[in-house]
Amino acid sequence: MIDIKEVSKWYGPFQVLNRCSTTVAKGEVVVVCGPSGSGKSTLIKCVNGLEPFTQGEVLVDGISVGAPGTNLPRLRRLLVEQICQGSGGPCRYSGRSMRAAHRGLGIRGGDFNALVEDLKKSLNKFGVPAREQGELLAILGPMKRDIVTRS
Ligand code: HEM
Repeated sequence: MIDIKEVSKWYGPFQVLNRCSTTVAKGEVVVVCGPSGSGKSTLIKCVNGLEPFTQGEVLVDGISVGAPGTNLPRLRRLLVEQICQGSGGPCRYSGRSMRAAHRGLGIRGGDFNALVEDLKKSLNKFGVPAREQGELLAILGPMKRDIVTRS
């Protein structure tokens, strides 16, 4: 369930979203339409956490996407840096070590495996060939020992 409440966004003095509100139930399909530049993509990026917004709240299954503790745009940037560096560069990862970032979260082996399964589903959905999938998983696999802290 997605709950968009009074979301507004400005780029400097320019307002791109003006108090947008709607709810989308599980399984419901909603079309966002409007002229070019009316903020359609911006609104959707605010919902999936790829863009910060200025006012309002977005809840996805009750979790606040824009809350300071969530900061999905930062997590996304760090993941891109990390995979880019791990696959030969030229980016440099600027986040915390995997041990420091996941310390105290009590992540189990099953949680890690669930992430890998979700990742494989996404890679298949976007037609990423088996060889490249293997390369990515070979980068992520060795991180397991620093991420999983509970058996
Ligand atoms: C190979 C698998 C994984 C990779 C590459 C990865 C990568 C990352 C990165 C780059 C960060 C940000 C570090 C920073 O803030 O400086 C992070 C944070 C985080 N990860 Fe992971 N992660 C993985 C697996 C998992 C799993 C399995 C879980 C939980 C089920 C998890 C939960 C979290 C949480 C909750 C944070 C935020 C911690 C905070 O902000 O205090 N991660 N991860």
